[in-house]
Amino acid sequence: MSDRAWDSSELDRAAAMARGLRAAAGPDARLFAVRAPGRVNLIGEHTDYSGLPVLPVAIDRSTIIAAVATRSGEVSLRNENRLYPDRDFKLARNIPPYPTGDWANYVKAALQGVIDHFADRGTEVTRLRGAKLVIDGRVPTGAGLSSSAALTVSSALAFMATNGLALSPIETAALVAHSEWYVGTMAGGMDQAASLLGQRDHALFIEFNPLRARPVKMPSEAALVVADSREEADKSGNVRAEYNRRVVECGLAARFLARALTLNGVRELGDVVKGVKEWNAADLVAALAETAPERLNPDLAQAASRLGLSSEALAREMLGDRDPHIVLDLHRPLEILKRARHVFSETERVLQAVRALQAGRLAEMGALMNESHRSLAEDFDCSTSRLDRMVSCARRAGALGARLTGAGFGGSIVALCRADDAPGVIAALDRDYYSSLQIPPQSARAVLHASAGAGLVELA
Ligand code: GLA
Repeated sequence: MSDRAWDSSELDRAAAMARGLRAAAGPDARLFAVRAPGRVNLIGEHTDYSGLPVLPVAIDRSTIIAAVATRSGEVSLRNENRLYPDRDFKLARNIPPYPTGDWANYVKAALQGVIDHFADRGTEVTRLRGAKLVIDGRVPTGAGLSSSAALTVSSALAFMATNGLALSPIETAALVAHSEWYVGTMAGGMDQAASLLGQRDHALFIEFNPLRARPVKMPSEAALVVADSREEADKSGNVRAEYNRRVVECGLAARFLARALTLNGVRELGDVVKGVKEWNAADLVAALAETAPERLNPDLAQAASRLGLSSEALAREMLGDRDPHIVLDLHRPLEILKRARHVFSETERVLQAVRALQAGRLAEMGALMNESHRSLAEDFDCSTSRLDRMVSCARRAGALGARLTGAGFGGSIVALCRADDAPGVIAALDRDYYSSLQIPPQSARAVLHASAGAGLVELA
């Protein structure tokens, strides 16, 4: 994390935000500025929480925090966007969350992650100092571009800096990987890893358990058009139950396969892939079809009895102490086969996509993205008619491939184009999609660039 990650306008923004802090804290106080970008995922959707790889890029939209330590254990947050009210809270070994949906829970989630990490290594929370944070988020919210990861990553870095604590980017990524569990979303670690490890002009091939990332150069003639449907995909709100249900469905598929293939210690589909030599998606799906029902009743009871467990034991294993009624919407049956088919086929596509990008085979990359969208729509049921419309529109206008990006259920699409074709794709989206929404299209779509991951500087 060096200041090469900053562009000059971001540094100016940070310096302006720090002025009030300097005035209050005095000339000797150490002031820090942190930036953390959002991400757009090229391919590898809904695979991270199964421990399977992803291929995102960090984007040139970021959250910036200016920070100074306080003497007490008090944390105070001021958001430059006045839609998000000021918040003050005290550090504690276990910080209680604000009510669901409060923006500051993402900051609390990050601080809790840092406290847990250092407490496990012998640093008492009473030795940590609070901080004043001024926050300016420029990653669009509810758009599937990881504004929440940008906020948790920047908060964790700011809090560590003001406490004189330092970790490598990869250690920090592991520390914040599960921070969204704090807000009730059982998310994987892709977004935080992309935000921390991003590299200019590169996508990141990220693998899990253990977390590692390898940059993959974006071919120079490629352009990424990212377009927000403005159908809000708010993971702490409406989408949370849908998302968590997918996590449970994938976990059940893993357990059924473990029994069928007599594999031990399997918790997620990635463990199955690791346990089987020379796996392929078709064989694993066929093995699953032989052993598991396509769908199960919604309250885990049927799954538990087929797996020889009590419902309580299975729920505890999969959900910890979370209330199944909150995590899952218990009205619809759980899908097992379709979800696994998506995850395994998507993993094959990620591996092919890395090779295609490396070799500059953009048409092949585009075809893989199209296939990913189809699989997300048909097998993972996380597209919407608006996302489908946008994807078709982008393809008709010359995109090599287009798909929903992020968790889906709303949010954005990403279209891979040859740079010369990007203006035509944008014009088509403006004409065929945005003209029917009462919004200026310039605020909703753009060509985004693969940018550097998070950075930290000390301000003079
Ligand atoms: C959200 C989550 C990620 C990942 C994606 C889907 O962005 O935060 O961990 O699961 O959805 O790929």
